[in-house]
Amino acid sequence: MSSGIMKRRPLKAADDKVHDFLTTGIGRVKALIRGSVKGFAKEHRPRSKNGRTAKAIFAEAQSPTDEDGNEIMIQVKKLSKIYGRRPEEALALLREGKDKGEVQSMTSNNVGLYDVSFDIRKGEMFVLMGLSGSGKSTLERCMNRLIEPTSGQVFIDGLDFTSLNDEDLRIARREKMSMVFQNFGLLPHRNVKDNVAYGLEIQGIPESERLERAVASIELVGLAGYGDRMPSDLSGGMKQRVGLARALATDPDILFMDEAFSALDPLIRGDMQDELIRIQSELGKTVIFVTHDLDEALKLGDRIALMKDGRIVQIGTAEEILQNPADEYVDRFVKEVDRSKILTANLFMRKPKNILYETQGPRTALRMMDNCDRDDMLVIDGEKRLIGMARSDGILRAMNAGDRDISGIVSDVPSVRPDTPMSEVVQIMVTTDFPIPVADDDGILLGMISPSAAAETLRNGGGE
Ligand SMILES: Nc1ncnc2c1ncn2[C@@H]1O[C@H](COP(=O)(O)OP(=O)(O)OP(=O)(O)O)[C@@H](O)[C@H]1O
Ligand SMILES: [Mg+2]
Repeated sequence: MSSGIMKRRPLKAADDKVHDFLTTGIGRVKALIRGSVKGFAKEHRPRSKNGRTAKAIFAEAQSPTDEDGNEIMIQVKKLSKIYGRRPEEALALLREGKDKGEVQSMTSNNVGLYDVSFDIRKGEMFVLMGLSGSGKSTLERCMNRLIEPTSGQVFIDGLDFTSLNDEDLRIARREKMSMVFQNFGLLPHRNVKDNVAYGLEIQGIPESERLERAVASIELVGLAGYGDRMPSDLSGGMKQRVGLARALATDPDILFMDEAFSALDPLIRGDMQDELIRIQSELGKTVIFVTHDLDEALKLGDRIALMKDGRIVQIGTAEEILQNPADEYVDRFVKEVDRSKILTANLFMRKPKNILYETQGPRTALRMMDNCDRDDMLVIDGEKRLIGMARSDGILRAMNAGDRDISGIVSDVPSVRPDTPMSEVVQIMVTTDFPIPVADDDGILLGMISPSAAAETLRNGGGE
């Protein structure tokens, strides 16, 4: 503990947006926590007055899929947010083709967002990028209704989130989503463990269970052993790890992160980005990550939406945006990037699909190959470390020899690091027709690069 006397600031005074996020309007719960947490915890389950749970709220919703069969987690449809007194008037002008500046001078309404539509897939890391004032935070907060949109709809897991009543909204929000902010938003008078357990406490989870979950979450972000420290004892990077642990402790499907790493110095920021990538690939959360930093966007985003004046000017993968900037605004962003530095393996890799574990039996392995119509697949160990590649003829041999698993027939495969320049990847690619695996320094498989992605680079000048 940093000081002898612990200031007891009432919860209400904690300058903490997260607190608002978790508790908006649930005075009853706040009172219960201040009074008798134990009494409330007897209910055991997150419940509202009328006994609703998020599960019940989402029960009838059908989560949609896109044309490739991917499940869609969030659909944003024609979403607009006008700040000011006369939003209808502003919308009418926008429909006539007036821009944000014109609307501002004609009506003194501020256009936060106008006519934004897109989908986010389940398990996707989706980045919102753009200059200051372009509408990133407004969009993110309209998605979780921390800000009420002026018009349009947001569907979460197939459910019209914009039509939920206040009670259902609160329940759905606190069980389904979490948020991580730039300023950490830790409660200063609580230790790390209790900060991380806070969201669970709000949900009325019994103490023993929430502490257990908090400890697991603290471990997940690499802070094992720090549970009893106070926030003031921690560096910025560690505080943000606590913020992340708290967001993950409730096991939300969706994580909203607004400039979460922007206050950290560059080295620590890089570490946190790596950590987020690792955690996301382990847990498969859907992440909406706001940043104004192109490098960060390119590193993290499965897809990136570039915003300008409350609109989305381009959505695409890092490579699509780098190679085909939709307009001058995007082009300006892209030009700031040193291309030779940026055209590295991590930008071109896709999440590894169709992977075998070395402990898998030959029969299962063959069936999996058959299902995805391949003759070869990458093999990893229980820690997700890349072991090599298995070919169907090898697996057949293992099966006939009565082997229990496929570990005996795995052959070496060339792999690259996330920061390997594409020019080198392309050279390796020529020697093999197999997707090139990308692994980190510990050998953990992060992704793979398909021959077509490499060919694309070649066509565009080879990433030199
Ligand atoms: N509460 C508010 N009242 C009036 N206008 C607002 C409000 N919040 C945001 N705006 C305006 O809406 C527009 C979008 O702001 P927003 O904060 O969403 O941008 P941002 O991309 O997150 O910017 P930054 O990178 O600075 O955080 C800006 O013009 C901003 O001035
Ligand atoms: Mg913002």
